[in-house]
This record gives sequence, C-alpha cells and structure tokens, in this order.
Amino acid sequence: MLYRNGNPSAAFERATKACQLAPDNPEYAYQRRLCGAGAVPAWHFNMVNDAPRNAAFAAAIAAQIKPDQLVLEVGTGAGLLALLAGRALAEQGGSGRVVTCEANPLLARTAVQIVAHNGLSERIQVIAKPSTELTVGADLPERADLLICEVFSVQVFSEGVLPTLEDAKARLLKADALVIPAAASARGALVASAALGRKVRVGPTHGFELSALNAFSPVVQYLQPGLELRLLSDALELFALDLADGRHFPAEKRELELRVRGPIAVAHLSLGTLEGLVSGTRVPARTLAGKRVVAASGIADPDAFVAQTKATGAAVQVATWRDHHDYRDEDVAWLAHAARRADHVVITQKDAVKLRDRWPAAVPEPLVALLDLSWEEGGDRIAAALDAVVTPVERL
Ligand SMILES: C[S@@+](CC[C@H](N)C(=O)[O-])C[C@H]1O[C@@H](n2cnc3c(N)ncnc32)[C@H](O)[C@@H]1O
Repeated sequence: MLYRNGNPSAAFERATKACQLAPDNPEYAYQRRLCGAGAVPAWHFNMVNDAPRNAAFAAAIAAQIKPDQLVLEVGTGAGLLALLAGRALAEQGGSGRVVTCEANPLLARTAVQIVAHNGLSERIQVIAKPSTELTVGADLPERADLLICEVFSVQVFSEGVLPTLEDAKARLLKADALVIPAAASARGALVASAALGRKVRVGPTHGFELSALNAFSPVVQYLQPGLELRLLSDALELFALDLADGRHFPAEKRELELRVRGPIAVAHLSLGTLEGLVSGTRVPARTLAGKRVVAASGIADPDAFVAQTKATGAAVQVATWRDHHDYRDEDVAWLAHAARRADHVVITQKDAVKLRDRWPAAVPEPLVALLDLSWEEGGDRIAAALDAVVTPVERL
C-alpha cells in the first residue's frame, strides 16, 4: 500500500521489519526487494560502476583537497565521493572532515553503513537532508572550503544542480571555496535512427493504423551502446557553465544554428496496394490479413519489404535472394511451388520485372507490392527542391 501510494522508502522499512520477524517468508523477501528497487533509482548502479566518471572525480579530489579543509558534499548517494574525499584527508593526516548530505533517507542510511564499513566514520558525517535544509552552526561547524556536488543527471541539469549550487554558495561555502566539478557543458547533434524511431513512434501494424499513440511519444531516450545512429549534423556545444566562479545561473534562452547534412525529410513507405503480376488486377494490401504469404525478393535491403508485408497482418514466410539476383529456372519453379502451397506469393516491383514473362500460366500469379509514400516531415522541402531543378509538366 505504502509502495503504491508513492512512499517506497517507508514500504521498504516495513518490509525489512516483516523480514526480520519472518526471515523464511519468500513473499516478504520479494516485497522488500521490490520496495528497495522502487526507493533507489536504478541509475545509481550504472553511476557507481562508471569507471571513467569515478576516475575523473578521484583525480579532481586528489588535486584539490588540503589537509585541514572542511569539505561539503551535496548528494552522497552510496557515499563514493565522500569516501574518496575522506580517505584523501585521512592520508594527509590533518584535521580535515567531510560533511555530506543526501535527500533520499534510505540512501542516507545506507551511506552511513557504507562509511562505517570502510572505517571512515571519524572523518565523514552523513546527514539525511536536502542541502537546502542544511545550516551552518547546526549541520556544519563553519562554511566549507571545498564543495563536491555531483547531482548531475544524464540530461545535465534536471536533478536541480543549478539552484542547489546557488544556495550552497550563498549560505554554506566560504567566498573562495573550490567547487568540484568546476564546469559543465553539453554537446548535441541531430541524428537519424530507425532503431531509435521504433522506441518513440508507431505506424501501421497488422493492417491497423495506430499513429494516434504518437501524441504520447517519449521526450527523452537514453542511447544504449550499439544503437544504430546516423549523424545529421556536426556536434555543437549547447551550453557551457563555469560552476566554480559563477554564483547565479539564471535561465537562458538561446538559438543555436547547425548545418543539417544528409536527409532533410522523412518519408514513410507502406504497402497500400497489390497488383497481379500477370493480370494487373489491383487489390488493397489489407486482403493479406490472416493469410499465409511468402514474401519473396532479390533486393539490397529486404527487411523493410518483409516488415511492410507483415504489417498487413499476414503470416509471412520470407524467401530472400541477393540484390540483382538473376532468377534461374529452378528459382522460378521454387516460387511456383510456393505459390501453390501458400495463399499468396508477394514480390517487389524490381523482381516483378524479371519474373513477369517467365511465370507459368497454370500457377496462381504472385502479387506485386505497390508502395504508398507519405511524408512524415519535410515533404514540402522536397517539393521545393524538386521545383528548383525540374519544370512541372503543366508549365512545359
Ligand atoms: C547523481 S547522484 C550522485 C551520488 C554520488 N555523489 C556519486 O557521485 O556517486 C546524486 C544524489 O544526490 C541526491 N541529491 C540531489 N540533489 C540533492 C540535494 N540538493 N541535497 C541532497 N541530496 C541531493 C540524489 O538523491 C542522489 O542520490
């Protein structure tokens, strides 16, 4: 109940108590796992395992830390950066200390355990509060000499780093305090990616049109390694901020210019009509719905043709030859055999040219896929570009 009402931390506490009372109850153990996973965002695991990120912070901390400093860390998470600072201070042998805070109470408690487990409780104090609720006097003995503030999201600022910094600088840091990290910037580029497109857009499938769902398309997509992307522009700097010297970071609206390279329009190809290879009789593609269809082609990229055929709702068997395939007699015989066994053989217009004069008269004719083209965007740009280089028939 607590979990469903948006309080997974409290639910985790209850589930932990239940597990202590009934350690062999698998249902309680499962509920505890579920609530724990809901209470701590999954990106903490990625982040703590991000070796280049950790190495950069370790190097910056080692370079900046001085023996007697008071270090403030905002957003300790599992405590890694506080531990790095605490260990550096311990190695220097001075009186320096780390005060670190964490807004998530469950994480704060976990960080206390982790700090103790690593023998640094003397150097590091974890406070279960958002930094905006810390005060000098009560939580910090004085303003801090060094701020470590890794509250950056993958979109850079969505975790509220700028107001957090402004507040810490105004109330919790000495005027000449150092800040890690000292700067933040983001770079961006336009990309095209069919694989990414499939994560954010839908089109026709099984003969139905579902594009009304696109009104709710996700705004942010995290790029996984291996995702196929094509750059449509050079990367450019979206913004760069000096976090060390800046005290205020007011909202800014900027226009950025980038030069698009590659396609300037996006077209959607769908299988709208089928035409008898020999008779030329046309039927709508939806007649394939529920039928057993062999999708046969000898083209460079058969995936789209197969996907378009499947989108009609047909049960599709795929027969693929290499691009520019020169159909041999046995290939035609194989297709004729397939045409007798399946409800239909569907072929591309390119293959139709090669097969039309060789198709055996007694065998049901293949259906040729005629594609409908609709512009998803940029159709007017293509029309304008064509108008600039060719003369429309009506003006000849
Ligand atoms: C990106 S994680 C970084 C964790 C850790 N510092 C590290 O680098 O491994 C940010 C953490 O800061 C916490 N946080 C964000 N803003 C905070 C604030 N103003 N005060 C306290 N905690 C905050 C979040 O709950 C989250 O656990």
